[in-house]
Amino acid sequence: MQIANYPTYGPPESIVFHDAPIPRPAEGGVLIRVRAAPVTAGDARLRSGIVPRGLGLMMRLAIGLRRPRVAPGWSFAGEVAALGEGVAAFSVGQRVFGLTGFRGGSHRDYLVIKATGTLLPLPETLSFEAGAAFFFGGLTAAEFLIDRAKLAAGERLLVSGASGAVGSAAVQIGRHLGATISATASPANHALARSLGASMVSDYRDGTPPGPFDVILDVMGTLGWAKARPLLAPGGRLVMVTADLSQMLGAALHPRRKGCRVLTGTNKDDLPAMQRLLALHHAGAYSPVLGPVMPFRDLVRAHVLAESFHKPGNIVVVM
Ligand SMILES: NC(=O)c1ccc[n+]([C@@H]2O[C@H](COP(=O)([O-])OP(=O)(O)OC[C@H]3O[C@@H](n4cnc5c(N)ncnc54)[C@H](OP(=O)(O)O)[C@@H]3O)[C@@H](O)[C@H]2O)c1
Repeated sequence: MQIANYPTYGPPESIVFHDAPIPRPAEGGVLIRVRAAPVTAGDARLRSGIVPRGLGLMMRLAIGLRRPRVAPGWSFAGEVAALGEGVAAFSVGQRVFGLTGFRGGSHRDYLVIKATGTLLPLPETLSFEAGAAFFFGGLTAAEFLIDRAKLAAGERLLVSGASGAVGSAAVQIGRHLGATISATASPANHALARSLGASMVSDYRDGTPPGPFDVILDVMGTLGWAKARPLLAPGGRLVMVTADLSQMLGAALHPRRKGCRVLTGTNKDDLPAMQRLLALHHAGAYSPVLGPVMPFRDLVRAHVLAESFHKPGNIVVVM
């Protein structure tokens, strides 16, 4: 089988492929034949080491000073190929999807994951490609809007950066929660944002849309408190999905400002969070937006697109 690897921090072209034997699942493990996996903004950051200002050293202390000691690929969809001893919850041939998480390891033809880990049956409503695209933006949008901002029906939501993985999920989940949604994106993606549920759409290059908003989801961290403040209604929440070190420290030390709140952080990627997103899907509230689908051998090209931060929805590679 083929495995992708990051031998060093560097450009997309530094990704290498190598051959390896197909692993065997140990007791409690499930061997997955991977059919599709997303190539996310997170993958691009782990490979390149390029993160928001001030966070580079922290990241390298966490995953490796000289090279990323993580394997490429954060989630997957595929079929169960073999079961380790004692696994009764899954069957050979079953369609599944799940997370390899921060330590990675889904950009390969086969992987082994714990049966009790972040693995779920793939519903009939999702193709392998959609299953691969399902979790990255969806988990982030759900946690930031529901748990942190506590977005309520009738509130006004601005999704700044509404066309990528996180933003396209946020528009859908915001609409499901009963918010009125304004969105910003490049003009080429305005129709997409409208089709997902945004009632007003503008180009972020033309400045900020007129407020007030109860919640602002600042996907790329390009508004920050200074630009968001005049747009927030009393009791408003600014949620920065991307934040540099000073914005993170500011949100931690001064979360309450002028009657508003500033929130940031990272989202959970555990089984309950996955199950909640699946429940939102079954309720008709969320389906991942599929962008380019490419063969696994084009992983380098997929990374070039992912690190542009202008991909529509989610990029998926198929094995
Ligand atoms: N905190 C967390 O736990 C967490 C979790 C997931 C992701 N993230 C971070 O969230 C960010 C977005 O991830 P993603 O997967 O959604 O990325 P993506 O798919 O590349 O989407 C980026 C979005 O931002 C828009 N955009 C680009 N430049 C912009 C600017 N200057 N001003 C406003 N909008 C701009 C793009 O719009 P157009 O393409 O239409 O121009 C697009 O809608 C990344 O920085 C990622 O690292 C954080």
